[in-house]
Amino acid sequence: MSAHPFDLLTVDQLRQTGSLKWSEYRGSLGAWVAEMDFGTAPGVIAAAQETLANGLIGYAPTRLVHDMQQATAAWLDNRFVWKVDPEQVRPLNSVASALDAAIMHFSPRYRPDAPLVLLTPAYMPFISTASRFGRDSIQVAMVPTPTGWEIDWSALERALAGGALLVLVNPHNPLGKVYTREELLGIAALVEATGSRVFADEVHAPLVFDGATHIPYATVSDAAAAHSITAVAATKAFNLPGLKCAQLVLTNDVDRMVWARVGDVPEHGAANVGLAATTAAYRTGTGWLDSVISYLDESRMLLAGIISEHLPQVRYTPPQGTYLAWLDVSRLVLEPGPAQFFLKEAQVALINGSACGSGGRGFVRLNFATPHPVLGGMIHRMGAAVDGCDNKDATDPEFAQ
Ligand SMILES: Cc1ncc(COP(=O)(O)O)c(C=O)c1O
Repeated sequence: MSAHPFDLLTVDQLRQTGSLKWSEYRGSLGAWVAEMDFGTAPGVIAAAQETLANGLIGYAPTRLVHDMQQATAAWLDNRFVWKVDPEQVRPLNSVASALDAAIMHFSPRYRPDAPLVLLTPAYMPFISTASRFGRDSIQVAMVPTPTGWEIDWSALERALAGGALLVLVNPHNPLGKVYTREELLGIAALVEATGSRVFADEVHAPLVFDGATHIPYATVSDAAAAHSITAVAATKAFNLPGLKCAQLVLTNDVDRMVWARVGDVPEHGAANVGLAATTAAYRTGTGWLDSVISYLDESRMLLAGIISEHLPQVRYTPPQGTYLAWLDVSRLVLEPGPAQFFLKEAQVALINGSACGSGGRGFVRLNFATPHPVLGGMIHRMGAAVDGCDNKDATDPEFAQ
């Protein structure tokens, strides 16, 4: 059997790209920032090049925006059975700026200082987002169960009491959980009961494996559509976050009226190359994406095997979506912290779970969107570092904290 083309990519080639993931921690293997090592779909490259070749380096021509809106609406319908009018799709430069916009303009109307509610562990920058706006944030820790991560419903109800802006990241980064319809309906009921609102971050939506289905939050009920604002983007699935284009999907008339008043400046943040690349990704990238998903599907399963062989102390459940693995390293004593330990002792760059808020301590996030041989090398090195150091079992009373 011939090797998959991604398997042939070498660490040297990845370093030569000069990407953030492979240049920030020189000499180490990059498994931290959420970028894939597989480039992007050929149609995306062609569209980006054509944009520059045509000299479209001024402000965004209306046609580029319209094409992106049409392409996004068709994509949402085809991929997720979500029918939206192209006009409801608004360009922005990033999902992070979509959350900023939600905080500024789409908090519960009667509580403009509403806190942000996060289901933690959460995507790292979101932990500090509320404080940039002088808002509080309330972390509701997800609960590990034998069948997966569950919402702590009573804690969520308490957090939403009085009206809040719930940040619902689905599929969940870093847990890789894909919420079920029942869970989404349960969330919608609490949000309605408390007069809260939802910022639905669905940037990882296309990256879901067999066995799970992504359901857009705004589709679960009329109430959910009315109290939510959704952010989507081609950037994670097609690997183009540097091209700067995300989409805000507005699913109620009042939000659309508000946005018509305040949306001009943020909409100008979307880059021409990003608009054209997004259109191409949604229109022509499905074949490439599906082949990447099947490679990642193998990766998440492969990871289980290599972890049990080389890092048996680490607990890992393959995610339902995303290319992020949430590794429980709490049985190990890794000083001064797990990510620092693995960077220094194994030259593997990871994210510390503690950066993801409550419940993150004792975990690391590993990005497995890398060639299988490189992934094997990472776990091999991490295992050797653990074996080589004088680490103790964290359950040893001598080391219990
Ligand atoms: C859940 C989630 N939201 C937002 C972002 C950031 O997206 P952007 O670069 O468009 O701000 C990321 C990036 O990894 C993410 O995982």
